Amino acid sequence: MKSTFEAENIVRGYTAMDRLQKPEQTILSLLRERLGYMKMLDIGVGGGRTTVHFAPLVRQYVGVDYAANMVKACEERFSDREDHISFGEADARYMNQFPAGSFDFVLFSYNGIDNISHDDRLLALKEINRVGKSGGVFAFSTHNLRSLHKVYKIKFYKNPKKLAYQILSYFLLIWLNGFPGKHQRKPYTIVNDGTHRFGLKMYYIQPEYQIKQLEASGFCNIRLFSVSTGHEIDPAKLDQVVDDGWIYYLCEIE
Ligand SMILES: C[S@@+](CC[C@H](N)C(=O)[O-])C[C@H]1O[C@@H](n2cnc3c(N)ncnc32)[C@H](O)[C@@H]1O
Repeated sequence: MKSTFEAENIVRGYTAMDRLQKPEQTILSLLRERLGYMKMLDIGVGGGRTTVHFAPLVRQYVGVDYAANMVKACEERFSDREDHISFGEADARYMNQFPAGSFDFVLFSYNGIDNISHDDRLLALKEINRVGKSGGVFAFSTHNLRSLHKVYKIKFYKNPKKLAYQILSYFLLIWLNGFPGKHQRKPYTIVNDGTHRFGLKMYYIQPEYQIKQLEASGFCNIRLFSVSTGHEIDPAKLDQVVDDGWIYYLCEIE
């Protein structure tokens, strides 16, 4: 898994990205007035897509990743960075280098938290809660189990190579994971959804269960945002959120 994120072509792909996703734009707007006072930890920083937008606005910015090549790519991409911006290697599960209560804002964007096992996810949430200040904020995204059926949809390309890959992928998905119905009633599941040419296992979770998991890990005032619109999701209508491949969560550290 980590080796997938160390690969040269994957690092290059993430380093070329610079646009915020819609719910990230919403979260930035919601926090904008406070960002200038905030010390921010950007976990799983990848190629620095979020650095472009958040680092200039916060009091201090630390971007970390467990993939050394991602950290290197960020150091090169932001070689003329200001003094309040730094990068380093860190694994979300064990961030011993940071004392408790170090950060006002912790971000783990673009489903980085989905690349670890269930037990490790709980460890990571505990660590995030520890390094975050009480009253600080945590934002992250995670795959929506209600949308898993979409992964199995075949796109009918005219290009025969692309079409062949789609059909092959469909059968691989069934071979590796079974049909989506097998997973969709669970609170969470881990599947190989074909991301990065089947190079990753991915955690998918029901939004209701994600809320419970966050509450049990010491987070409160949990808000959800749609990846397709950037709008806040009504907690009473979570069962209708079937199209968003992933959801952004914004919550407070207790
Ligand atoms: C999907 S990429 C997202 C990159 C970047 N945050 C963005 O939004 O463009 C996920 C990133 O999380 C990192 N990652 C995954 N698990 C991690 C962990 N346990 N600790 C730190 N980084 C992790 C990967 O190396 C990868 O760079």
